[in-house]
Amino acid sequence: MKKYLLFLVSSLFVTSVAFAADSQIWGDMRLEDILGYGQAESTKLGPLFTMLQSNYFAKAFLVVLVGVPLVFLIHYLIIGPKVFSHDGKKIYAFSLLARVIHQIAAISFMVLVPSGFIMVFGSTFGGGEFVRMMKDLHGLATIPFAIVVIPMFVIWVKDMFIHWDDIKWLMIVGGYLSRKKNPVPAGKFNAGQKTWYWLATLGGVVMVLTGASMYFMDFDIAMLREITGLSQIDILRAAAIIHNIVGVLITALFFVHIYMAVFAIKGAVNGIITGYKEEEEVKILHSSWYKKLKKQGKI
Ligand code: HEM
Repeated sequence: MKKYLLFLVSSLFVTSVAFAADSQIWGDMRLEDILGYGQAESTKLGPLFTMLQSNYFAKAFLVVLVGVPLVFLIHYLIIGPKVFSHDGKKIYAFSLLARVIHQIAAISFMVLVPSGFIMVFGSTFGGGEFVRMMKDLHGLATIPFAIVVIPMFVIWVKDMFIHWDDIKWLMIVGGYLSRKKNPVPAGKFNAGQKTWYWLATLGGVVMVLTGASMYFMDFDIAMLREITGLSQIDILRAAAIIHNIVGVLITALFFVHIYMAVFAIKGAVNGIITGYKEEEEVKILHSSWYKKLKKQGKI
């Protein structure tokens, strides 16, 4: 793992310095640059890109920015948080490596998400130096996330495959529409957590690749053009379209993740800091995992 991280840090560093030196990204007319890429030779994604860019993307991000927190405010006021005893046994759930990887992803997202929003609403923020600074910060904060997203995938994948419990969990929305503390059908991770995991890791890789292609705009990978049959300008348009669509989904579920981890279950955030979860929380919210641990004599 150490060798992998060292290799990745050094190759990402070398790549970014090599490209940054003569890239147009430091110029400020990114859209204008895209338009400069031989508009004539390719109109495949032009109309779709312009239509989505001017009509939908900003609106979708606004719905996420306002709508998701609003729904959770209503949930918190009407149903309220689940409160479990903190006097019971502590159950070990997250290794030190998992927590370190997680915290790096969390910190990078705390930069990526706000800077991404400011770029989406760039004209509202005057579109000048401040927005350009956010673009650079967005690029820089991608590096730590790009380093940890694969290890995050690897460390948790075995617990993330779909199970009957997940269907039952979805049918009762994980028990979060009731104040009662009835045992909920879930393993170590419930259906909501698994959905976030797959989107955050696989979607995260897509965000890194599409983001990097928009950053290093004038890369020339003939193979990519041959495989996709798209010209450079359409590859950039496709990257922008995919980055926005996956960005809307990831941001929405990121807000859900924070609400669940910090507000909906009192004290749950301790689990990802100390590695230990409260026995009653596991017994109720991860009842199948609790039974399994009992059977194995681990608790
Ligand atoms: C400030 C932001 C964040 C907070 C407060 C937070 C908090 C937590 C907590 C408390 C858990 C343990 C949940 C449990 O008890 O089972 C957890 C798990 C997890 N976190 Fe985060 N997290 C944050 C950001 C992120 C980011 C940015 C990613 C990935 C891009 C991420 C991916 C995961 C995954 C995959 C899990 C395991 C499945 C799950 O519980 O959803 N987290 N996080």
